[in-house]
Amino acid sequence: MQFTNSLIERLALSHPVVQAPMAGGGDTPALVASVCAAGALGFIGAAYLTPSQIGEAASAVRARTSRPFGINLFAPLSLPEEVREPHLAVGRVAPYYAELGLPPPAFPSVPSLPFDEQLNAALESGASAFSFTFGVLPDNAIAAIRARGIFLMGTATTVEEALVLEKAGVDAVIAQGSEAGSHRGTFMGDFERAMVGTMALVPQVADAVRVPVIASGGIMDGRGIVAALALGASAVQMGTAFLTCDEAGIPEAYKERILQAAEHETRLTKAFSGRLARGIVNRFMLEVDKPSASGAILPFPLQNALTRPLRNAAARQGRAEFLSLWAGQGTRMARRQPANQLIAMLAQETEAAAGRLLASHSAHPERGRVV
Ligand SMILES: Cc1cc2nc3c(=O)[nH]c(=O)nc-3n(C[C@H](O)[C@H](O)[C@H](O)COP(=O)(O)O)c2cc1C
Repeated sequence: MQFTNSLIERLALSHPVVQAPMAGGGDTPALVASVCAAGALGFIGAAYLTPSQIGEAASAVRARTSRPFGINLFAPLSLPEEVREPHLAVGRVAPYYAELGLPPPAFPSVPSLPFDEQLNAALESGASAFSFTFGVLPDNAIAAIRARGIFLMGTATTVEEALVLEKAGVDAVIAQGSEAGSHRGTFMGDFERAMVGTMALVPQVADAVRVPVIASGGIMDGRGIVAALALGASAVQMGTAFLTCDEAGIPEAYKERILQAAEHETRLTKAFSGRLARGIVNRFMLEVDKPSASGAILPFPLQNALTRPLRNAAARQGRAEFLSLWAGQGTRMARRQPANQLIAMLAQETEAAAGRLLASHSAHPERGRVV
């Protein structure tokens, strides 16, 4: 079954599937290229990359495939407010540094990754699509992306945010439901208020905007893809499903935890990065993210910088209890395989799920009748 709509045509996709950008190393060039070569849209999560690393990642994808790929950045964030008691956060993570054999932590400096230079590298990268999260891009950035003919996608967690993105000039809105793994894209108002599930968010966003909608959050197989399309999405964006692919660049211990986790084992936390994100519950999350920890977690991106050496050491030592195990709520549906097999399986499942619906409707047409 070949789905078609303006987004699929514009990006020359064979499948209505976008591999979520996963900044932090999950989306290796091998993963991105394999997804693209299989007819879906692979994305490089470039938010933590320097401009030259962005160029290298794009070249590495290009060396493997000539199919379209995308690049993602975080919208520029305002600098975190001044931290009143910096020793609290540093002291909170110090015992874990010691446990992993690291020298004592110091207060981190704000990582200086200049957005404008990252954007220039993305513009020069040969990417066909650009997506962003955490806000709205400045007008000049949107104009520069559009002037290059690059397909532009912004992330919304509410209808209000989707409307702002549409007005700003995006070509498509990614509707990120509360099931989604990793950071919330919320940029207007309270994070708690913006915890709307994919099932409720997608049709309401689709009703509100004229641009195509990409459903994201908890979608792991063909059933989820058919459901999202039925809700009015033109495609889906899947993160967690790609993390357990062979090519994904996360530690083996992390893949194992996703493959073992039940649907209720993820939770939202600021413990690792200072910004609300969904991950599998582990010791670090439980011990650091407590109401009593107030003031002991730095704002994003400072907390991210503070815990990075810890997470890197934990990855080297295979200690999943100190990793940020970002994952959505669909963990029981996670599978281990190469990315091209996942795409092929998603295509089969999508066809089967759509076929089942049609078959059950034609076998029992009276069930569809309103009485
Ligand atoms: C490990 C990980 C890293 C992520 N990094 C990014 C990112 O850099 N940029 C972005 O826009 N979204 C990022 N996301 C969020 C995804 O775009 C998407 O909203 C989410 O994966 C959807 O939920 P799912 O994981 O249940 O499929 C990330 C998700 C994961 C799991």
